[in-house]
Amino acid sequence: MKGAAFSRIVGTGSALPERCVSNAQLVAELAQRGIETSDQWIVERTGIRQRYLAGPKLTSSQLGYQAALQALHSAGIAAGEIDLIICATSTPDFVFPSTACLIQAQLGCAGAAAFDVQAVCSGFAYAVATADAYIKTGLASKALVIGAEVFSRILDWNDRGTCVLFGDGAGAVVMTGSDSPGVLAARLHADGRQQHILCTAGNLSGGAVVGHPFLTMDGPAVFKLAVKVLDEVAREVLDLAGKTPADVDWLIPHQANIRILSAAAKKLGIAESKTIVTVDQHANTSAASIPLALDYGWRSGQIKPGQHLLLEGVGGGFTWGAVLLQI
Ligand code: ACO
Repeated sequence: MKGAAFSRIVGTGSALPERCVSNAQLVAELAQRGIETSDQWIVERTGIRQRYLAGPKLTSSQLGYQAALQALHSAGIAAGEIDLIICATSTPDFVFPSTACLIQAQLGCAGAAAFDVQAVCSGFAYAVATADAYIKTGLASKALVIGAEVFSRILDWNDRGTCVLFGDGAGAVVMTGSDSPGVLAARLHADGRQQHILCTAGNLSGGAVVGHPFLTMDGPAVFKLAVKVLDEVAREVLDLAGKTPADVDWLIPHQANIRILSAAAKKLGIAESKTIVTVDQHANTSAASIPLALDYGWRSGQIKPGQHLLLEGVGGGFTWGAVLLQI
């Protein structure tokens, strides 16, 4: 198969669990466990006002499937036309098969290549960059790229420093080959030496959990590194595409924390009014946060055809990456 000049996003979708939990509700629920926090602390330190939390039976693949269906519908493409499915997740349904395979089965498009990428909150940037490379080299022509998470499953609900920060959800895009842009530049990075600042250092072995099955984080270290590397990788993709921050119509960063979003935009010299913000509504949904924000920006009419979008992800690993594209 001949590769395409560009890959383009031609449809977006998203899905959230039914249960929306406001800060006030969460504060009350945590108080019952003897954990003290407040709406004021959460809003001031993070910008989060609510999050959606999955019930016990809802899985990443089910959320990813719903988001994928919506993305296919908005692209006007049938599931059977898809030849590549990449799902970014750190909360897969199973050790294996991959969440992408489970989504493929629900969509009924057997035959398409399907695999997960694991780059935590950078996962969606990694997945889009991977799909772009597959489409440009002719390994695929129509791709579904999904970020899906049930992070609530790996939170220690007795750790107020982390459990207030995350939510569950999924977002998806359909990408196809095109003669016109499309993805203009993508760059991915990682520094495994920083694995300890954000991790869920547990595993299954011999039928038991080995290590620590909950997310742990050195918040200040993550904050500092995130702002630095987001700026570096954003400038890298802008340079690669021969663009400047002034060419960016919308910055769509991983929605970790409003203070990280604001600091990243400020450092890059992009007005906060040009940043898509959903962390207040969804909290941090890890690999799902960028596609959720993209779908929100598209459906709300903020993002318009032809505009330049700068997607940037940062997360555990430590990993980071950015994609500059025209929508
Ligand atoms: N409610 C009330 N008090 C709290 C809470 C809470 N939920 N959590 C922590 N505190 C307290 C701490 O116990 C501490 O109290 P002390 O001073 O009496 O010891 C105090 O608040 C300050 O704690 P810090 O951790 O220093 O708070 P900080 O101002 O750094 O804010 C935060 C914490 C929001 C996590 C911050 O470090 C941050 O934004 N880090 C970036 C990391 C992030 O956003 N991670 C998201 C996931 S990572 C990713 O997606 C890339």
